[in-house]
Amino acid sequence: MKLSIQPDNILIEVAEGANLLEALGQAHLHLDSSCGGAGICGQCRVQIQAGEIAAQQAPAQSNEEYQAGWRQACLGRVESDATIFIPEDSRLEREVIYQKVAPSGQYLTDGQIRRLNPDWSHDPPLKKFYLELDPPTLKDNASDMDRLMRALRKKQGMRRISVDAAVLPDLPDLIRRNHFKVTATVAEIPRWEEGLAPMAPRRRPKLIRVEPGDTRARHFAFAVDVGTTTVSGQILDLDREHPLATHTQYNGQVRHGADVISRILYATSQPGGLQTMQRLVVETINEVLEKVLDKAGIQPDDISYLSAAGNTTMTHLLLGLNPRWLRMQPYTPVAFQVPPVRAKELGIKVGPWANLYTFPSVASYVGGDIVAGVLGAGVYKRSALTLFIDIGTNGEIVLGNRDWMLTASCSAGPAFEGGGMTHGMHAGPGAIERFTLDPRTGQGRIATIAHLPPAGICGSGIINTVAELLRAGVIDPNGKVNLNCGSPLAREGSDGPEVVIVEAEQTAIGRDITLTDHDLDNLLRAKAAMFAGYQTLLRHVGLRFEDIREVLIAGAFGNYLDIENAIAIGLLPDLERDRFKFIGNGSLLGARLICFSNQLLEDVEKVARLMTNIELSDNSTFMDQYIAALFLPHTDQKLFPSISRQMLKKNLGEFATSEAHP
Ligand code: FES
Repeated sequence: MKLSIQPDNILIEVAEGANLLEALGQAHLHLDSSCGGAGICGQCRVQIQAGEIAAQQAPAQSNEEYQAGWRQACLGRVESDATIFIPEDSRLEREVIYQKVAPSGQYLTDGQIRRLNPDWSHDPPLKKFYLELDPPTLKDNASDMDRLMRALRKKQGMRRISVDAAVLPDLPDLIRRNHFKVTATVAEIPRWEEGLAPMAPRRRPKLIRVEPGDTRARHFAFAVDVGTTTVSGQILDLDREHPLATHTQYNGQVRHGADVISRILYATSQPGGLQTMQRLVVETINEVLEKVLDKAGIQPDDISYLSAAGNTTMTHLLLGLNPRWLRMQPYTPVAFQVPPVRAKELGIKVGPWANLYTFPSVASYVGGDIVAGVLGAGVYKRSALTLFIDIGTNGEIVLGNRDWMLTASCSAGPAFEGGGMTHGMHAGPGAIERFTLDPRTGQGRIATIAHLPPAGICGSGIINTVAELLRAGVIDPNGKVNLNCGSPLAREGSDGPEVVIVEAEQTAIGRDITLTDHDLDNLLRAKAAMFAGYQTLLRHVGLRFEDIREVLIAGAFGNYLDIENAIAIGLLPDLERDRFKFIGNGSLLGARLICFSNQLLEDVEKVARLMTNIELSDNSTFMDQYIAALFLPHTDQKLFPSISRQMLKKNLGEFATSEAHP
């Protein structure tokens, strides 16, 4: 069957009876699908313009919409050649992942991060040695391997070097191909081969590859952050300690749900589900790898080593481990740490010598991505109290310093990624990221990503919008639309009170973009979960917000966050603004740094061991704090002194104005 995709004007081949969402995903046309294809979220809407796509009417869909040809792609089956239209708000862009730098002064550059975590030396876990061997003679007819090892020991003073048996079959040809001049790659990585525990790393060199000639200038690694939503990879020059190319794209698993729970459900309830999930993430990694190799002008065979950091579920799915028990009490992973595996055996397109190191996890919902971030930012080396947070569907929090660390994860829901909101969308082109009210007219002004007509509101846009509406009194501190505020934007909608952010004629979707009471509820719950998480960890050790010297914000979402607005709604604590720093993609940062330093690679275990996880799901302090935080910014105003001062000033100003003009 042929599917014509509009407005892209591309044609794809699809098997008869194929599920439409899957077929589009296979063609790398990823749609928003936070319910994982259950037909509930309504985000995967497409319009059938010609042909036959069998799909029942979705529960939340109106008759008019269904009659007009709108279908949920996840419910559709392709029954003939067809033409379908994919609107902007249904799409996840494949390669254009919007990257934005945080407000100047708050985003740490690589140089500043190097200063945050300064005391490590450049000492990659893999090294290349150029050797000129003595050709064999009748007097010296030692084996090829002994000859090679003799030269290696002589050159590097290495005593006990083991040999990967995979080196041997080609060794005779390789060393003779360039007149006994060869390059040997030696891995000095922790020896995991002896079992999963104990995890204390011991360096023991191992010869993993021999190449003819001098290839020392081609010594590269691939670091990858395997995120639930996106996969980001970097090619690293191991000798010059810097990344050559970076690429990010959506994780191919997104068609089976936006969060880790949907992925686990798919992997464990569908026939071949785990294999499908593994294949999809490996395919994405290969696509990212291909892109960065291309950008850097490097061949796959030049990669000596790979490191990957991801949350516990992503790590399980990448390695093909059964994630079933991650989501069931008492939440046990298959293993917190998995020994390095040959990347090629997972299907990653590199040479057979290249091992893949995966970061250890701390708990089912505090994974290697957080360990990598804490490592990369050097939190484990500081004496000052640091709060490290990664805000997303699953919010992860680390509180501590070089002596101790507490971690927790809280299910914030998809609100921060635009999910579960009437007009929420991912932070892609056309997403509203800023909203301000004109004080004279009371009308709203918006700014969208890539300056395209608005198609929806992304998570950070929702925070900015709510903060602005809260300051103006259009939303009240209970998180409800105030219909009596006198604003022309507040109205009674078909689903209850709502605020019109942009009117239909100015949007890319032909409908009003609104924020409803229901959306505000979702946001309130999400921010309350994060805030209650910080408080629970602080109370656990008898500390207060004022004791926190620095707040490090990691993750893609953090890049877009406006600190002032995030404090105004109670998502971040009300501390001096210069205590907040964005570190960007902490997971990729850690994955990159361990490729440059054996010392940091060894520190990974130390960081994971320092972390004690506090389970929040049955924690009574967390529940109490959560309820107290279901208010904008919080029921306890003393926790938000600067916001209280601003409100007081505003109220006094209004009072003075009304006194002056009775
Ligand atoms: S309705 Fe199709 S993925 Fe949610």
